[in-house]
Amino acid sequence: MSKFNAILITKDQEWSERFKDLEGKHQLDLTVTPEWKKTIGNQHHYHYYFVDVDSVEYPNQLQFTSSSYVIGLSRTADFDQTREWLTAGAKDLVIFPKEQNRLEDLIRESKQQIQFHRETEIGYGSGEVHAFYSAKGGSGKTLLAAMMGQSLSVHHGKKVLIVDLNAQFGAIDSLFGLQPPRSYYDLIPVMDEMEMRHLQNIAIDDEENGVTIITGPSNPARAEEVSDELISKLIRVARSHYDYIILDLPSTINSITFTGLSEATRIHYVLTPDSLGMRCFKYANELFERFQLGVNGTLSIVLNRTHPKSELHKKDIEKIIAKNIDGTISSDFFGIQPYMNMGVSFFKKKKDKGSSKTSKDMKKYVEETINQEMR
Ligand SMILES: Nc1ncnc2c1ncn2[C@@H]1O[C@H](COP(=O)(O)OP(=O)(O)OP(=O)(O)O)[C@@H](O)[C@H]1O
Ligand SMILES: [Mg+2]
Repeated sequence: MSKFNAILITKDQEWSERFKDLEGKHQLDLTVTPEWKKTIGNQHHYHYYFVDVDSVEYPNQLQFTSSSYVIGLSRTADFDQTREWLTAGAKDLVIFPKEQNRLEDLIRESKQQIQFHRETEIGYGSGEVHAFYSAKGGSGKTLLAAMMGQSLSVHHGKKVLIVDLNAQFGAIDSLFGLQPPRSYYDLIPVMDEMEMRHLQNIAIDDEENGVTIITGPSNPARAEEVSDELISKLIRVARSHYDYIILDLPSTINSITFTGLSEATRIHYVLTPDSLGMRCFKYANELFERFQLGVNGTLSIVLNRTHPKSELHKKDIEKIIAKNIDGTISSDFFGIQPYMNMGVSFFKKKKDKGSSKTSKDMKKYVEETINQEMR
């Protein structure tokens, strides 16, 4: 039987010794490294990642192949930490060495699954996950998410998936003029072996602009049955297939919104130039800081619905919120109405600049976002 590649990330000498015993016992081919490096996640030949939780500051920034098995190793039991690791994609968090037996059980149980993945390698997901969020409702999250998705696809030839995470009143489908027959609710039965083909079954493609969309269940009772783990898996599986996954989030913070924000590689906070908008931002920003969301420059602030006659301008707002604004999008009610009402694409061909001020600004914002990513 062939061996399973494993990596142990820890500075702890004693742990390294203990793992030497496990290596032979479980047919592992073990590498030990003192700390996490970005390159580790990019090399997709490890079946197991055993990660000392003290070696990683922000588990949600770790990237693994979707088929690998990540187990966090902690010295103490801590509920918040466990949750954080699970939402970051770890299969489990084990108190080590106290729960060594449980760890060994996990290794035994997962081998079969890994064997299966080996045969149907779904590869490493490197797709970007861009979340549109604002603590204030009606600020333009859905509209800007749709425009960004269309621009990435039409102007930049990217493979784009938009996921509507508004449990009940999502509007992305109507912006695209589509009526998806299924939703991510239909993924519940395949939760444990979710693959790209399952996503393709519930998704719908917009032929005008090449964007694929996935929506939530319209029935509120069903929406409650959807777990954050399901959303996490959906996003992770999608990352192996799409260049960009755009999340349209609701303003309410619930476990699904939270999962979307934690899975995001970039958060676009949609701010409106009014006092309520700024108050909501302050509240959201506190939350982001508390949960380490949008850290390391992954939070962009986009000022939406600007107007030359507004009382507050970009400079004033930057002063008030003490942050730089990354993009400004003009208000253009009459320019966008016909597109919204008819569910017609804002962009159809590569040379389309967009026929409203709003879509023109958004095209520019997308270019800047892409350039920033390449830097
Ligand atoms: N730049 C803009 N110019 C003109 N109208 C806009 C602009 N941005 C958003 N709107 C309008 O504001 C309304 C709310 O926008 P949208 O649905 O995208 O907001 P949202 O943040 O997703 O709202 P919700 O919190 O309900 O999900 C829509 O009718 C939209 O057309
Ligand atoms: Mg919305």
